[in-house]
Parts: sequence; structure tokens; C-alpha cells
Amino acid sequence: MLKGNTAIVTGGSRGIGAAIAKKLASLGADIALLDIGNNDQAAEVCAVCEKEYGVKTAFYSCNVADFEQTKQVITQVGKDFENVTVLINNAGITRDGLLMMMNEKQFDDVISVNLKGAFNMIKHCSRLFMKNKCGRIVNISSVSGLSGNAGQANYSASKAGLVGLTKTVAREFASKNITCNAIAPGFIQTDMTADISAENNPLAAQIPLGRPGTPDDIAGAAAFLVTSPYVTGVVLRVDGGLGM
Ligand code: NAI
Repeated sequence: MLKGNTAIVTGGSRGIGAAIAKKLASLGADIALLDIGNNDQAAEVCAVCEKEYGVKTAFYSCNVADFEQTKQVITQVGKDFENVTVLINNAGITRDGLLMMMNEKQFDDVISVNLKGAFNMIKHCSRLFMKNKCGRIVNISSVSGLSGNAGQANYSASKAGLVGLTKTVAREFASKNITCNAIAPGFIQTDMTADISAENNPLAAQIPLGRPGTPDDIAGAAAFLVTSPYVTGVVLRVDGGLGM
């Protein structure tokens, strides 16, 4: 389904990003994995994609918050791979705290990675998408960005910002066969949420489907958006019904 296409996945070395990379590889996409760290885990993800699905992969160490670095890395990806048409903006961090206790750095760091990082990636990838006459962008937002969440002023703002960015990019690039959509995951069990067990998280008890999500739940939604050329500007909640 995606054979002959290359997907860039940020934060792809673990958790949701790793699951998305493997899913897109299973559909035939070559994978350019970007991450700021976790080099060993990134190598494992690449090895699985190559071995199980026979696709080409490469890992690029990159801080998505760094405008110049993302420019250089994406230029390199364009040289290393054919037909780059997919971008998954998944890299994200949390620096939680109640607003009265939150310092400036906590706020700036989260906005820089989660929101500016997506801007950097989209901006630099857009040239490749125009050249290849196709683009499928998926931004990983959060239900926190739709509803707010006490203790996450920085994170919620960054994820709400991604919704605005998604819809604007969808409008600006629609005539170029470039779609842009967002996924708003609910409570997904990954390293990011490892210290919040389903038992001590009051939100988890409110999930209508009765369980936290898995990275594969999000990967399935990402694959749907990447392979749906007539869907753009959408924010897809994948949260077990939490945000209803
Ligand atoms: P995770 O912490 O397991 O993985 C995030 C990945 O992003 C890591 O590999 C990390 O090294 C990478 N990363 C962090 N900063 C980076 C930077 N500056 N440049 C490049 N890579 C960077 O997190 P998880 O749970 O897999 O989350 C993935 C995305 O899904 C994030 O954007 C997160 O905000 C979002 N999300 C997660 C939810 C959850 O319940 N786990 C819920 C809603 C959204």
C-alpha cells in the first residue's frame, strides 16, 4: 500500500513512534527514524522493520526543536531515500506541574519540542512533498490539548497549538495533494506514562472502553490517515471514548 514511499517518524525509537514506524513499514514504506536519543532502541526498531517487512531504514539523531538541525537532517533524508511523502510528528515531552509552580523553562521546553518541532519538520519537509507531488502529515496531539488538563498548562497549550497548526497546514497545502491531520490519543501505556498506573489515574477509570490504549491503537489510526487521501484537517480522538 505504501511501497515506493518513505515515511519520516520523529520520536520513533520507542512507544507510539516505534509502533507507527513498524505499522507503516508493514504497509511497505521505507522508514527514516528521527530521535534525540535512545539510539539502541532506534536500531532495534529499524532492524525489525528491515527483517520483518523488507523495507529500507535509517536512523538520524536529531533534536526536532532545532530549526537548523532539522533542515540539515531532512535534506540528508531527501538524498538517502526516494519519494519522501509521509511525516509523522510524534516526538513529544512533558514537564508537568501546576501553573503557579511551573517555571519559564518548563513552559518553553515543552512548546519548543511539541509545537515548534512540528513546525520545523513540516516547513522543511514541505519542499520534498511539493517535489514528490504528495504529502501525508500526521501530528500527534493529545486529549489534553482538546480539554485541558490540570498540571499540564505547557503540554495542553502545545497540543492545542498543534490542532491549529494542523488545520492551517491542511488549508495551505490542500491544492498540492498534501494532507495534514492530527491524532488526539487518550491515556496510552508507554514510557511517558509509566509512572501513572491505570490504578492511580482517576482518568483511567473513566475510559468507556475500560482499558488504557496501546501504541498499536495509535499506529492503526496513523496508518488510516496516511492512506486516506480525501481526509484532511481532521483531529481524530483515539482515546477509548474518554473525550466524549
Ligand atoms: P515516549 O516518551 O515514550 O516517546 C517520545 C519519543 O520522543 C522518545 O523516543 C524521545 O526520545 C523522543 N523525543 C523527545 N524529545 C525529542 C526531541 N527534542 N527531538 C527528537 N525526539 C525527541 O512518549 P509516547 O508516549 O510514545 O508519546 C509519543 C507522542 O504521543 C508524544 O507527542 C506524546 O505527547 C503523545 N501522546 C502520548 C500519550 C500517552 O498517553 N502516552 C497521550 C497523548 C499524546
